[in-house]
Amino acid sequence: MEELPRKALPKMYYDYYSGGAEDEYTLKQNVEAFQGITIRPRILVDVSRINLSTTVLGYKISAPILVAPSAKHKWAHPEGEVATARAAAACDTIMILSYRSTCTIEEVASSCNAVRFFQCYTRYIYANIVQRAERCGYKAIFLTIDSPRLGRKEKDIKNKMVNPQLKNFEGLISTQDDGSNIEAFDANTAFDASFSWKDIGWLRSITNLPVLLKRAVEVGVDGIVVSNHGARQLDYAPPTISVLEEVVGAVKGKVPVLFDGGIRRGTDVLKALALGAQAVLIGRLAVYGLAAKGEYGVKRVIEMLRDELELTMALSGYPTLNHISRKHVRTKHERPR
Ligand code: FNR
Repeated sequence: MEELPRKALPKMYYDYYSGGAEDEYTLKQNVEAFQGITIRPRILVDVSRINLSTTVLGYKISAPILVAPSAKHKWAHPEGEVATARAAAACDTIMILSYRSTCTIEEVASSCNAVRFFQCYTRYIYANIVQRAERCGYKAIFLTIDSPRLGRKEKDIKNKMVNPQLKNFEGLISTQDDGSNIEAFDANTAFDASFSWKDIGWLRSITNLPVLLKRAVEVGVDGIVVSNHGARQLDYAPPTISVLEEVVGAVKGKVPVLFDGGIRRGTDVLKALALGAQAVLIGRLAVYGLAAKGEYGVKRVIEMLRDELELTMALSGYPTLNHISRKHVRTKHERPR
C-alpha cells in the first residue's frame, strides 16, 4: 500500500502526502525509532480469543487504530474524505476530519452514520467552522498546535504545488492561489502565530465538545495526541515514539493519550500501546490506501493493521489490550531484565 500510490499519483501529489519538512530527518526517525523497540513475548497463554476492541472518549471502536486528520484527500481519490469516512465507519473506527479537507464538514457528516471527530488549527475565525462541526454531529475537537507557521516542505516548493479549493472556507476567506506562493496561501488558511496557551480557554468557550490537543501536555483539555505532525513541521523534532512514555508519565492518567507518527505495522501499534497510548492514529497509511484503491483501500489498510495487531497479540501472549503493559516492550537503552 505504500508502493501503489507512488505509481498511481502524479509526483506533486505523491510528494505532498509522503514528504516531510526540510532534511526529512524526523520523517525517517518516526519510522525507524520503532525498530529500536522489541517485544517481550509471553508463552503458554490462552490466546484462542483475542479481543482488540476499546473505547476512545467513551466511543467503542473495533481496534485501537483511528484515522488521523490529513488534508486534501481528493488528490488521492475523486471521492476524497467521504470515501475515507465510509471506510473508517465500515471498520468500526473513528476518522478525524481535517478542517482543510476537500469535502465539506457537511458532506462527510452525511456520507454515513458514524462517530467522527474534527480537527482544526488555532484561529479566531474558526469559531464558525468549529460550531458547524458541532452542529453536524462531530463528537470532539482536535486542536493542532504545532503550526504557528507552515513547516518547510521543500518538495512542495520545488513542485510549485497548487492548492485545491478548500471547501470549508468558502465565503470566509479567499482560498485559491496560483501555485506560486504556498506559504502565503497556508498562512491565510491555517496559521496564527500569536495564538497561545491562554487562547485554549476561548476555544473551550465556543463549543460544548471535548477538546483534545495535538502535541501538548494537559491544560484543562480532555485528552492529548502525542504527534509531530507526521514530521511535516519542525524537522529534528524527536520521533514521537521516543517521547511517548515521558508524556504518559507526565499526564498520570488524568486524560487519554493518543499517539501518531510512523505507524506502519501491527507491531508498531502494540509498542505504542505498551508505552502508554490508549490508541494510535494513522496518517499516511490511510491516504495511501485511498490513493491506491479508494474507500476499499482505506478499509484494507485498517484491516491489515488490525490483523497484524491481532497476530502480534496472539504470538506474544496478550489476549486483550488490557494485558499489554510497559514491561512487555524493551527499548534500545534498557538492559535485559
Ligand atoms: C497530515 N497531518 C495533519 N494534521 C493535522 O492536524 N491537520 C492536517 O490538516 C494534517 N494534514 C496532513 C496531511 C498529510 C498529507 C499528512 C501525511 C499528514 C498530520 C497527521 O494528522 C498525523 O499527525 C501524521 O500523518 C501521523 O504520521 P504518519 O502516520 O503519517 O506517519
